[in-house]
Amino acid sequence: MKTLIAANWKMHKTRAEARRTAQAVADGAPRGTDRSLIVFPPFTAVAEVAAVFAGREGLAVGGQDVYPAEKGAFTGEISPAMLADAGATWVLTGHSERRRVLGESDALVGRKTAFALDAGLNVMLCIGETLEEREAGTLEEVLRRQLREGLAGVAADAAATRAAVAYEPVWAIGTGKVAGCAEVLEAHALTRRLLAEILGPAADAVPLLYGGSVKPDNAAALLALDNVNGLLIGGASLEAESFLRIAEAR
Ligand code: 13P
Repeated sequence: MKTLIAANWKMHKTRAEARRTAQAVADGAPRGTDRSLIVFPPFTAVAEVAAVFAGREGLAVGGQDVYPAEKGAFTGEISPAMLADAGATWVLTGHSERRRVLGESDALVGRKTAFALDAGLNVMLCIGETLEEREAGTLEEVLRRQLREGLAGVAADAAATRAAVAYEPVWAIGTGKVAGCAEVLEAHALTRRLLAEILGPAADAVPLLYGGSVKPDNAAALLALDNVNGLLIGGASLEAESFLRIAEAR
């Protein structure tokens, strides 16, 4: 399985800034390795980044969100076909900021995931517990619910070939508080087991990424853990230099 190193730029960067950062990523990206880099820019910059990455093996672009319909009266939303038309081959679903700031339900995340996969995109489903949920001892219950509902209607073969799951504990996002290796190891083993309950043997083929305060100096230790098949990076992905250092961490 290729290691996926993904940059979530969230609501950052104009088109010109995105172009510059994408060019620096393309110039510095390791060639011919076992790693694939994916950048999730804001919608306005997807086509810009796609143009910079065009024709480069191992570099891909994705949308940060998608709406589960082909077209229609959905003001503010974007369809899988529109993302693909802009050059995206990936999309994020269920990011905790969409769940918590925008109020997305597990059911809506599931509809988005299934629809985007059906439309031919690769989908990175994000899951993760809040600090309160962790302290209440409900980690397993929360991840099981997010995975079951997030993958409802997803065929095992589509999941095995085009889905990834990003475990991002909410308390570690943007806080500088990276989950400890023991916590990541445990949560990823749990995620793999829960995925097997849902998908059967296909679960083994689904890359599991860790996200939450990943930095150049903790990336190697995280990537060395069992069941960590990649990283999803927010703040430290905004500068090409630190994103590339993470992409090369071993
Ligand atoms: P940070 O790396 O800024 O903690 O963000 C993580 C994240 O939410 C990536 O999707």
